[in-house]
Amino acid sequence: MAEVAFGGSAEKISLEEVGLRFEVDGEIATITLDRPEKRNAQTFATWSALAQIGDTLPQQVRIVVIRGEGPSFSAGIDLRMFTPEGVPGQGSFAASAALDSSAFEQRIAQAQQGFLWLRRPDIVSVAAVQGHAIGAGFQLALACDLRVLADDAKLCMKEPALGLVPDLTGTKPLVDLVGLSRAVEICLTARTVGAEEAARLGLAELVVAPQELEGAVRDLTAALLATGRDAATATKRLLQGASGRTLEEQCAAERREQVVRIKSLFAGS
Ligand code: ACO
Repeated sequence: MAEVAFGGSAEKISLEEVGLRFEVDGEIATITLDRPEKRNAQTFATWSALAQIGDTLPQQVRIVVIRGEGPSFSAGIDLRMFTPEGVPGQGSFAASAALDSSAFEQRIAQAQQGFLWLRRPDIVSVAAVQGHAIGAGFQLALACDLRVLADDAKLCMKEPALGLVPDLTGTKPLVDLVGLSRAVEICLTARTVGAEEAARLGLAELVVAPQELEGAVRDLTAALLATGRDAATATKRLLQGASGRTLEEQCAAERREQVVRIKSLFAGS
């Protein structure tokens, strides 16, 4: 059983204790948020464990699926963080507020590591979302490259309604996907976006009936694996860089990647 340490603590706890499952089947890894009785609420330990899974991902893995057990994908951060007692062993926001700002920012940076690796060019990450994806749950779905939604999915960026900002890497993909105006509207109203609207806004690649979610993700991952690893990695890297480059710079990047591809395809011929 994989173990994880968090918050600078020497104490190690298992993925099961964190409420996660991690399974690898050939080229596909599946991470399951597995605390359905608490609607898969997330803690700092969840994010440390996610980061550790990213750090130790088996080399053969090309697809990472993130799913939630039970009726909700994830109801966001564990609300015990807002209580004076906090989450046992992990502190509380009240305790974090007493840290100096740079130490507190470092703690948030560690949490963000749990999300950032999902964008690595050598993998494709897919969120399978049913029911609620609130706050950190919505941001975890946004951290993935692709989102498949059950038609009962309910997305909500609730942080501003709780006096916070979304800080788990979700603001950039949200703006990239829906545009600044819609992102402002969704976040500052903290309203719920249903599956049909999410698809219309570009927040979902696919919407299916809840009982079809697993099969739809399986079909999508099989289709993604139809291309070879090196070409897929280079193409994802190219696409990821596109919005930050001019057309000329992007054309140059295409040339560079293609030269490497064709040299490797025809090496020795
Ligand atoms: N943290 C801790 N426990 C939670 C959370 C959470 N975020 N969400 C749900 N739970 C617990 C409930 O306390 C309840 O526990 P109990 O059975 O011991 O009383 C159990 O999960 C089931 O929750 P219900 O509310 O009964 O489930 P329901 O399906 O009716 O509602 C919903 C689901 C809408 C997700 C509701 O639980 C909810 O609003 N949760 C809080 C969402 C939230 O504000 N998250 C923080 C977002 S901000 C951020 O992530 C940074």
